[in-house]
Amino acid sequence: MKLGTPLSDTAVRVMLLGAGELGKEVAIELQRLGCEVIAVDRYPNAPAMQVAHRSHVIPMTDAQVLNGVILAEAPHIIVPEIEAIATEVLADIEAAGMARVVPTARAVQLTMNREGIRKLAAEDLGLPTSPYAFAGSAGELAAGAETVGYPCFVKPVMSSSGKGQSFVESADQIADAWTYAQESGRVAGARVIVEGRIDFDFEITLLTVRSRGADGETCTDFCAPIGHRQIKGDYVESWQPQAMSAAALASAQAIAAKVTDALGGYGVFGVELFVKGDQVWFSEVSPRPHDTGLVTLASQTLSEFALHARAILGLPVDVTQREPAASAVIYGGLEAQGVAFDGVAEALSVPTADLRLFGKPEAFERRRMGVATARGADVDEARDRARQAAGRVKVVRT
Ligand SMILES: Nc1ncnc2c1ncn2[C@@H]1O[C@H](COP(=O)(O)OP(=O)(O)OP(=O)(O)O)[C@@H](O)[C@H]1O
Ligand SMILES: [Mg+2]
Repeated sequence: MKLGTPLSDTAVRVMLLGAGELGKEVAIELQRLGCEVIAVDRYPNAPAMQVAHRSHVIPMTDAQVLNGVILAEAPHIIVPEIEAIATEVLADIEAAGMARVVPTARAVQLTMNREGIRKLAAEDLGLPTSPYAFAGSAGELAAGAETVGYPCFVKPVMSSSGKGQSFVESADQIADAWTYAQESGRVAGARVIVEGRIDFDFEITLLTVRSRGADGETCTDFCAPIGHRQIKGDYVESWQPQAMSAAALASAQAIAAKVTDALGGYGVFGVELFVKGDQVWFSEVSPRPHDTGLVTLASQTLSEFALHARAILGLPVDVTQREPAASAVIYGGLEAQGVAFDGVAEALSVPTADLRLFGKPEAFERRRMGVATARGADVDEARDRARQAAGRVKVVRT
């Protein structure tokens, strides 16, 4: 794809569907390569809108409205950043050859629903996963939990960031888990997946990049594994590299290669895996940069956002890690609009520390408002520094 000049006839127009903090970094990387960036989200002044050429505020789950915006903007490339999108529109646009959907419309559709990606991974590709069952009622859920065994996780098939998710230890908690999934899932009357708990040593995100090689063939590259810690299904800190055995790394890469190959297209994928000793289980995959990959802003020559921008434009990538690094999330901690940040100078006085303040117009208690990154001689030092820097930033009401 030939790069051109934004706002001219030669412009490469890229539309981001979802304009959060990950999209903001992708937008910046695309801007650096002279792309024309159009950001779309359901609320005004979303992070990526603040660094885009234009933006649109629409309900992205409304097929007609979404289609209208795509037709009006005529992007060359459409980059979904979130899962709550009327993906049937993307399939039609792609089939009509009107735009390229990243990585592919099918990949976006399969991964937005836990049922689609789990069946692909476990049943079609034969990858190791937790035992699982799907359920469309509290009764089916109870039966499914008996099959997979306790303790287990119950998740709406359409949800992310831990929303509607329960950890269930015995049969008497099933009814509550069902109700909670119904209340918090993306769509009412939604099905759920129940997964047996994997007793892992640690979990990783293996960022996997599919890009166009020099001869036009597709290359698959793996970033160094990213370790992370989750609380209530939301990541609080991540680090790179996560130490693991050579055998586990080889099987992690083999799993990631298989699943990304099956999804196809160009771009970064966040392959989530559980690891115990040499054993690796596939959990899920994002067909886009991953939140735990924010650490790559500090650790790699090219961040996952720069890698994504390059890959989707058909350009070569370089996944080299430079130094051990870590990221720590800065939460809102309060509910307010137009918050301010105290302690930024103190945070940045931690050696190697850096910050991203996302510019979200409104803070909530558990909303991610920023992230601190730091490097170190090893992961422990980097984690200490990142946590320290994040801890010094205070979100305050003005
Ligand atoms: N079967 C399982 N066994 C053990 N731990 C699990 C299992 N399923 C989920 N978890 C834990 O819960 C976390 C969130 O689960 P999962 O990634 O499926 O949810 P999510 O809503 O898609 O979250 P996100 O969108 O942040 O990735 C996992 O990272 C892991 O720590
Ligand atoms: Mg996950």
